[in-house]
Amino acid sequence: MARLTSLNTLEQSLIDRLKSHPLMQEIPTIPWQDLLSILIQRRYLSLSIVNIYEFVIDALIDEPIKKTVREILHEEYPRTTKGVPLPSHREHLFNDLLHMGATAEMILATPESPTTRRIRNESHQLLLSCLKSNHRQAGLVALLRFWGEVLVSVEYACFWKRISERLADRHTETKKRSEFYYFHMVHDSRGSDVGHENILGGLTHSQELAIHLQGLIQSEETLNYCLGLEETAFQLKHQFYDQFTRSIHPVLHTRP
Ligand SMILES: [Fe+2]
Repeated sequence: MARLTSLNTLEQSLIDRLKSHPLMQEIPTIPWQDLLSILIQRRYLSLSIVNIYEFVIDALIDEPIKKTVREILHEEYPRTTKGVPLPSHREHLFNDLLHMGATAEMILATPESPTTRRIRNESHQLLLSCLKSNHRQAGLVALLRFWGEVLVSVEYACFWKRISERLADRHTETKKRSEFYYFHMVHDSRGSDVGHENILGGLTHSQELAIHLQGLIQSEETLNYCLGLEETAFQLKHQFYDQFTRSIHPVLHTRP
């Protein structure tokens, strides 16, 4: 239990640090077109999540954990009860951006920035590094959960007020709702401390993975390995947002 306390303390502090990122602090006042550019650039990380999930499924050994990860991935591709494919979550993301005023050309033709590409590549390298570890299974689950669920929900929660206001302003009659950001903000969220999941209320993706993670952290070494991975995952997300503070708030970078 003391191990889970260390994990929970670190996670809460990393979440607080991401919320305190200069860019997150500036969200209420960022001009809308700049905010839209950030969300369009952020889409490249969303596109990479499918590859990350597929990698983890292949790299995991434990069948019940694979099953959980597979189920979460398949939720990204909903179907009707008759099995007919519905728009994927990537399409929902595209539609949310359109509803907020982006054009299809803006979304499709905005190049991936060198920083975003580096973050994507380093995230993949971090996953690859788990294969060489004695704590491989715990590392894969910890990284997938923290990088791909917990922090994603934190990021979208930071943007949510501006996104929801924008959708309400532009679609007062049609009442357009966010299909992508809202869903992921809620369904990916950390929800509770690891070890305190309440199955009765329904589990978020983070909690489904947390249940496996706590079973995998059976030693101090495994715990420390997971703590290190989560810290690095946080650093990658932090660096992703650093690129925008440079372009939008150059003053932040002239301070000593
Ligand atoms: Fe998720």
